[in-house]
Formats: sequence, C-alpha cells, structure tokens
Amino acid sequence: MNIFKKIYCRVFQTCFHLAIPLLPYRDPKILDSIEALPQEFAERKIKSVLLVTDPIIRKLTGELETKLDNEGIKCVVYDKTNANPTVSNIEEALELYKKEGCQALIGFGGGSSIDCAKAVGARVACPKKTLEKMKGILKIHRRIPLLAAIPTTAGTGSETTVTTVITDDKTHYKYPISDFPLIPKIAVLDPKVTFSLPPHLTASTGMDALTHAVEAFIGGSTTKKTRDYSIRATKLIFSNIEKAYKNGTDENARRNMLLASNLAGGAFSRSYVGYVHAVAHSLGGAYNIPHGLANTVLLPVVLKRYGSSVWKKLQILAVATGVASPSDTRQVAAEKFIAEICRLNKAMGIPEKLEGIKKEDIAELARRADKEANPIYPVPVLWNAKELEEFYYAVM
Ligand SMILES: NC(=O)c1ccc[n+]([C@@H]2O[C@H](COP(=O)([O-])OP(=O)(O)OC[C@H]3O[C@@H](n4cnc5c(N)ncnc54)[C@H](O)[C@@H]3O)[C@@H](O)[C@H]2O)c1
Ligand SMILES: [Fe+2]
Repeated sequence: MNIFKKIYCRVFQTCFHLAIPLLPYRDPKILDSIEALPQEFAERKIKSVLLVTDPIIRKLTGELETKLDNEGIKCVVYDKTNANPTVSNIEEALELYKKEGCQALIGFGGGSSIDCAKAVGARVACPKKTLEKMKGILKIHRRIPLLAAIPTTAGTGSETTVTTVITDDKTHYKYPISDFPLIPKIAVLDPKVTFSLPPHLTASTGMDALTHAVEAFIGGSTTKKTRDYSIRATKLIFSNIEKAYKNGTDENARRNMLLASNLAGGAFSRSYVGYVHAVAHSLGGAYNIPHGLANTVLLPVVLKRYGSSVWKKLQILAVATGVASPSDTRQVAAEKFIAEICRLNKAMGIPEKLEGIKKEDIAELARRADKEANPIYPVPVLWNAKELEEFYYAVM
C-alpha cells in the first residue's frame, strides 16, 4: 500500500479510536434461558413477533413458540434463512413481518439467522433504503423494532454486535452493515440450544469466536474493556472448545463457549476485526464457504504474515492462556500461540486448505477484501488488494 493511502487509513482509524468512549455502544440484557424471554416481551406489551430462523433450527423453536402463545403473543416464523443470509431472505422475511403486523423480532439460530433478523429490523426502520445502501458503517440512524437474539452457535457474537453480514444473491458480494441500532436489546445465552450443534460446526464456529477475540486484540483500536474481553474469551475458548467438540452435551463447556463468543463479540464490535475476516467474507460470498471455517484456516496464515508487529500482543495472549511461559521471548511466545491454534484446528479435523477457490477470481476477491477492510479495520500492518491476494493462494 502506498504511503498516502496508509496515512489516510491510520488517520481514519485514529478518529474512530478516539471516538469509542463517545459512541452509543451498549450491551444487551442477558438472559440465561429461553423460558425467560416471553415474559420480557409481555412486559413490553408486544402482541406479535417474527421469529427468524433456518430449517434446521426450526426443530428447536417449538418450546419458545408455545411459551409465547401462552403469554398471548402471536409468533410468526420465517424459517428459510440461508447459511450466509441473502438479500432475498431478508426481503422475504420483511414481507412476512409487514403482512402479519409484527412488532418485534427474534433471531433464533447461528449468526445467519440473527443477522437476518437484524437486517429485517434495519429495513423496517428504513423502508426506503435498500440493504445495498446501508453497506458500511452508520447508515441506519433509526431505531429498529425490539430485537432478541438467541445464538445456537458460539459463535459469531452477533447477539451483542453492531453488525449484520449480508450476501447479495445476484453478485455473491458479502458485506457487513454496522450501526448502533443493530445491537439486540436482549441476548439469550442458553447452553441447551447449542447441544445439537455437530462437532465440525462446534469447531469452526468456536474458532470464529477466537478469531474475533484475536483480531480485536491485535488491532490498533483497543480499549481496556475490549482487551479484557479478548483475553477472557481466548482463555475460555482454549480451555473449552475441545470439550464441547468431543461432548456436545457438556453443559459447562457449552455455557463457557457461549460466554466466550459473547465477550469476543463485545470486543470486536468496539475494536473491529481485521484481514482474516475481510478475506473470509469474500470467500463466504463467492463460494458459500462457511464463515468460521474460512476464518480458522486463514487465522494462523495471516498471524504469521504479520510477523514481529504482533509478537508483543500474541505474547500477552499466549501467557494468559498458559500456552507460553512468562520467560519466553516475544517471538517464541507468539509462535507458541500460533502453533496452539494449528494444534486445535488439527485436533478438531479442520483442514489447512479451503476447497473451491478459483485462481481467476482471486484478484476480484482481494479487491472486495481490501474494500471491506481499508480504511476501517485498524490492522497491525496495512495491505492493499494486490498484497492480500497472497492469502487466497496460501489457502487454496
Ligand atoms: N453479525 C456479526 O457480528 C457477525 C460476526 C461474525 C460472523 N457473522 C456472520 O454469521 C454467519 C455465520 O453464522 P454461524 O457461524 O453462527 O453459522 P450459521 O448461522 O450460518 O449456521 C451454520 C449451520 O449450522 C446450523 N446450526 C446452527 N446452530 C445449530 C445447532 N444448535 N444445532 C444444529 N445445527 C445448528 C445451521 O442450521 C446452519 O446449517 C455468517 O454469515 C457470518 O458472516 C456475523
Ligand atoms: Fe466472524
């Protein structure tokens, strides 16, 4: 990247960093069981709600639907959300919301269902603005309907973040929309809805949470709070992900993973992600590669490439998690941290490469990643589209 673009990126990032204490970040109210949710809606005089989910999670929503019904709350269900939710999903769900006169939203599922519900909320708030026009940051401004998020993966942290990630089904372009009204009002962290998550998804979605914690931590826009969130999330993930992977009904491990994902979400919502996510989003949009899988394959590759610029911060994470000892040099500790990520990936059957990347697409994918990341993401080292291309080659 040329020096003028670098200066522009760093000035832009510094402004956002300085503004963090002034911005209207908030944390959702946390409930630890879905049974408590209908009462929350009843107290807010909600009479009908759109529950946004996908066909697999629909099997888990029956109990909540019955409990809402018992409180006299009509529950309309949209259960066609794709993994990597599309503009068509959102427009279809929006039609249902309007047709049924809904007043509130529940996103019940992985990041895809929660993001779909968030984007429906954005469209309700801004009926004349297309999702395409909301791309980027601070384009919504208006309050969205009451939104509760029930994550069934741990995960994206979408239940606490300012972001929804949408894929345009025509162009296969995947892009984030970020604004404060998108932070859900209520988040339900109930381990039992994650019991059925299969091992390979437990692994990849859990490593997505790790990627949030690490990318937020190594970036240049951290605060004391986000550093603390990242360290706690990383410790929880390192000590629980394999337990949850091996035994899906280990309630303690599942609860800790949900907490980790929530903390990591809180960290990256304020301190951003980095190039791992930008590249992963381009791959998710183009080839439907699962988000967590793309992240976890890319994470060690990108961390190594950052070189000495991240050693100090990775050393802190490595010592906090017990992967390195305080007497290790920065470089050794950072290498041990990256090695532990590779070990976890291998132990959980995550491949080192991603299938389906076409050489002829790489320039365009890297251009999209560049557009997403620069100037917003406060990454340790700045790279332009041409420089980002190497990561696609490295994992193909
Ligand atoms: N909004 C944010 O802040 C944010 C952050 C990171 C990622 N994302 C986005 O979130 C999406 C990915 O979300 P995800 O990784 O949670 O996965 P997902 O929602 O796409 O779900 C993946 C698959 O797992 C299944 N699944 C989920 N929970 C299950 C359970 N408990 N039991 C059985 N099957 C279950 C789903 O049905 C789906 O088939 C991507 O689009 C990504 O870009 C959003
Ligand atoms: Fe992510």
